[in-house]
Amino acid sequence: MVISRSTSTCISVPGVNKLKRTDQDSDRVFVPPGESAMTLPPELRCVIHQRQFSESGDRSALICEEGCRVPVVNNIPRFVSSENYAAAFGLQWNVFKKQMLDSFSGTTIFRDRLIGCLGGSLDVVRNKKVLEVGCGAGPFTEVLLSAGATVFACDLSNAVEANYENCCHSSKYFVCQADVYALPAQPNSFDVVLCLGVVQHTPDPEKTIATLARYLKPDGLLVIDHYSPSYPRPFSRRILRAFLLRLPSSLTTKITLGLARTLVQVHKLTWNQRRGVWRVRRFLQFHSPLVDQYDDLPQLGPELLGEWSVVITHDTLTDHYKHLRSVEQISACLAECGLTQIETYYGGNGVEARARRPMSKVQAKA
Ligand SMILES: C[S@@+](CC[C@H](N)C(=O)[O-])C[C@H]1O[C@@H](n2cnc3c(N)ncnc32)[C@H](O)[C@@H]1O
Ligand SMILES: [Zn+2]
Repeated sequence: MVISRSTSTCISVPGVNKLKRTDQDSDRVFVPPGESAMTLPPELRCVIHQRQFSESGDRSALICEEGCRVPVVNNIPRFVSSENYAAAFGLQWNVFKKQMLDSFSGTTIFRDRLIGCLGGSLDVVRNKKVLEVGCGAGPFTEVLLSAGATVFACDLSNAVEANYENCCHSSKYFVCQADVYALPAQPNSFDVVLCLGVVQHTPDPEKTIATLARYLKPDGLLVIDHYSPSYPRPFSRRILRAFLLRLPSSLTTKITLGLARTLVQVHKLTWNQRRGVWRVRRFLQFHSPLVDQYDDLPQLGPELLGEWSVVITHDTLTDHYKHLRSVEQISACLAECGLTQIETYYGGNGVEARARRPMSKVQAKA
């Protein structure tokens, strides 16, 4: 299925609490400024006391039953500040808010990737509670919602703002800014925990996987992926990244985007089937720091492919952590976490993996 292009955002309607628009848009909720579009999910918990939250009178904060206060900025609860190792991701996803979403590209790239990671069908998430960690701008979030999942999304960076803008039309959606290592969620409470494109960028992948597993209900499904040892790391990218990571993230992003936007013009000269041009393209692919996906994603067309190349180049040059793991290492980690029905294989961005938490004794008997 190709999702049509959409540029919808949550529109402010002063004085109206939740206003439904046309029949066509009947699942879209339009929200006044300062009011949360999102209903607090029952799984939301204070990180310190594991107690539930209510909203403060002016909706500028969540207050836990023990009195902890969590600021709500631009309708999004913030359990962490945006100054952390993932800041460059936040800048990236707020510059490229929509470009990667299937609903914008008119492709099914993320939908297909998600279906593959889930084991072949979106039915696994229909009417299920899904925890999505490292949601970025929401390319998977929007697919989960359109498949009928109830999504509790979070991200360490202010990418949550782009995610909110892209997904807040759904009444089955909640997002907050939080760290995987201190999630404001009740353990043992999700049918599916999804973490794609993220684990390799966290400080300790094994700790991250073990943490994610704790949020699964018995028989719940954990779905992750990870860069593998065959992740391409040409010399030009390694040296540039080492330099860029020493700079403040706003400068890193400025330099990287400027460089990538220049290089993409050079690469574009080779995005054709003229005789012999493939040799130049291959040379560039080996030596240029730009991540050129002309051969992998021709369906995007030169305009959007250019933008994707810039985003992916920024992603690959500015991530603070870039761990690599083999299928065997991920399998061992999942087993160590007590998970069963482990499936790991090379695919997608490296290793794709899923596993289940064992059923409770009662479930197993039924
Ligand atoms: C490469 S992006 C992937 C985003 C999205 N999953 C996608 O595939 O488009 C990695 C995301 O992981 C987030 N992230 C990194 N460390 C995190 C952590 N400790 N807790 C939550 N999110 C984290 C980053 O902020 C970033 O948005
Ligand atoms: Zn508390």
